[in-house]
Amino acid sequence: MNEIPFTRLLEVAVCAAKAAGQHALANKDRRTEAIRVLDHDIKLKLDVECQDIAEQVILSEFPDHGILGEEAERPNDSSVYEWIIDPIDGTMNFSHGFEYWCSSVAVRHHDRVVAGCVFAPEYDTYYTAHIEDVAKRNGEPIAVAQTEHLHRAMIFTGLAKLGESSTAPYFDLFRTLAVNTKKLRINGAAALDLCRVADGTCDGFFEAGIHLWDYAAAGLIAERAGARLAVYPDGESLHGATVLAANPHLIEELQAIHTESI
Ligand code: IPD
Ligand code: CA
Repeated sequence: MNEIPFTRLLEVAVCAAKAAGQHALANKDRRTEAIRVLDHDIKLKLDVECQDIAEQVILSEFPDHGILGEEAERPNDSSVYEWIIDPIDGTMNFSHGFEYWCSSVAVRHHDRVVAGCVFAPEYDTYYTAHIEDVAKRNGEPIAVAQTEHLHRAMIFTGLAKLGESSTAPYFDLFRTLAVNTKKLRINGAAALDLCRVADGTCDGFFEAGIHLWDYAAAGLIAERAGARLAVYPDGESLHGATVLAANPHLIEELQAIHTESI
């Protein structure tokens, strides 16, 4: 089978992410329609609708490719391509009318992420990268910040979906990060956080307990903007991991904190 050019895969990722994000944006008045309300999380009807829309875009172009999404999986072991979708990253923000949320679509070829798009509809901003090109924001190249020391850095982090019993180690980690950085921020959308590392808004990202669909596209975007990405699978959930991203100066300091925390 002929390989598909990365530029073509990226075009489809952009179309899918935009279609999903635009559907959520156009239906903001339905943002509290929930399928499930949990103690620390919510699942919306729009999460599922937006994944369906992203899938339709992808499968109309590549009907035999596999799909791994936050809302549904359609594996196809006979294909070397798999699309990773988070239709709304930052669902809690979206449901509260806080504009910090995005749609994320990545594609893997032989298990390697080769292209991805993150679309933040309320900011009218989309981020893209494929493995043979630089990262871009709205079509213009972007690059990570060059901050050299963690004590001068603003780091984005997050509080993943956790049960009460497992929160304690995370608060210890937050304390360590807060003490060792200039500022720590929690915004509530890991994919967009990683894109803000890519465009230099913040200096780094550190979050435990996130999932492949949260970081597949944005991790590649951060790397192609000059970040180093460190992914530590958590072993407990199939697609869960601790993810760190920062410029080459800072990543080792973040990795040292991660090592101390386990
Ligand atoms: C969540 C966001 C949040 C992170 C959570 C994720 P979702 O994704 O990325 O920032 O802290 O761990 O699950 O559920 O809104 O797609
Ligand atoms: Ca989501």
